[in-house]
Amino acid sequence: MKAGDWHQFARHTGPEPPAVYTVSELRAMPTRRLEAYIEERNAWLQYVQLPWAAGLRAQKRIDRIIKDNALRAPGAKNVVAVTAKHTAGKSTQVRAWANRFYRETLGPAFDDPTPPTWRPRPGVHAQDVPVCWIDLGSGKIRLFTTQVLSFFGYPTNGLIPDLVARFSDVVENHRLKLLVVDDINMLQLGNRDARQVLDHLKHINTVLGQHGGSLVLVGRREANSLVYTDPQLAGRLHVIQLETFRSEPEHRAEWQEFLHGAEQVLLPYLPAAEPGLLPRSLAPDIWRRTQGFMGDTVDLLRQVMHMAAEDGSWTIRKSHVAAAFLSERAKTEESMLPVLVRAKRAEAQRQVGAAR
Ligand SMILES: Nc1ncnc2c1ncn2[C@@H]1O[C@H](COP(=O)(O)OP(=O)(O)O)[C@@H](O)[C@H]1O
Ligand SMILES: [Mg+2]
Repeated sequence: MKAGDWHQFARHTGPEPPAVYTVSELRAMPTRRLEAYIEERNAWLQYVQLPWAAGLRAQKRIDRIIKDNALRAPGAKNVVAVTAKHTAGKSTQVRAWANRFYRETLGPAFDDPTPPTWRPRPGVHAQDVPVCWIDLGSGKIRLFTTQVLSFFGYPTNGLIPDLVARFSDVVENHRLKLLVVDDINMLQLGNRDARQVLDHLKHINTVLGQHGGSLVLVGRREANSLVYTDPQLAGRLHVIQLETFRSEPEHRAEWQEFLHGAEQVLLPYLPAAEPGLLPRSLAPDIWRRTQGFMGDTVDLLRQVMHMAAEDGSWTIRKSHVAAAFLSERAKTEESMLPVLVRAKRAEAQRQVGAAR
């Protein structure tokens, strides 16, 4: 990604919500118009964001840490690491927060479609892009360094130490306040290149910190994660853990609350559905199919919303939920659920037996 793209993406809001119709209006619609409407509705569904209370709480925590960092004396700052299982929805939350941070930092310049510029020195024009987002494609130091430099349009040839040293210019020339590095699970123990990337990240944190800026890391915490096991970083690291939704009785309210929020967004487009469809009637079925992973849940909801329109039922049925195509992970875990349930039951009985 380049700084200019970041500016465009941050400003992009997605398709407008389509019109809302009653069942009789939809059934009376000429075929061609109905087909166009279903397409428009589907395009909106692919973009729609669903509210997630735990995700919003995580965003608030990131915001506090980064804003406090900016208020502190120059020097290396606290580093945020957001972790969760794959497809639990962490990048989406950090992206939403980083977009807001970008908008707030730019102020009115955010509304201009051309990326803002300023003059760091007389006669020099530079892009004024306070946020840089890097998807760590690998744990390779050259790739990481060149990703940061090419984001800002700098040449990327030369020796690695020279490339690393150019980071200070980037911060000063572009008033960089936030570097987000996603997929840091790529950095694993025992890998020399990954070690160099981590050292570079620590250097970046110091340079950024001298200008009031911060580093945010995103990625699953694994046993061999370098970021989560480095003692020097540990002293500054604030880990924000996001969870998938769980099915145990004490966690059900959270799942239902999420589905209730999703329903507020989706129900106007299901005119034959009764309120409570998602959080009450379908909650267990949806959990069984997705195991409470945000990625699969959103995927399923988009599919069943489309099926409900295509077959003219305009409500979601259990058969729709059963027919959704999901990730390999979800399929595998769903097929293992009966085994897990039996094992849990046996364990409970064993405990009762032991207590007697
Ligand atoms: N709140 C949300 N609303 C709608 N879609 C979401 C939401 N959170 C995640 N998604 C979608 O779920 C998928 C997985 O989310 P992502 O943030 O990429 O997960 P992670 O970074 O944890 O692997 C993506 O396709 C994303 O667009
Ligand atoms: Mg991600």
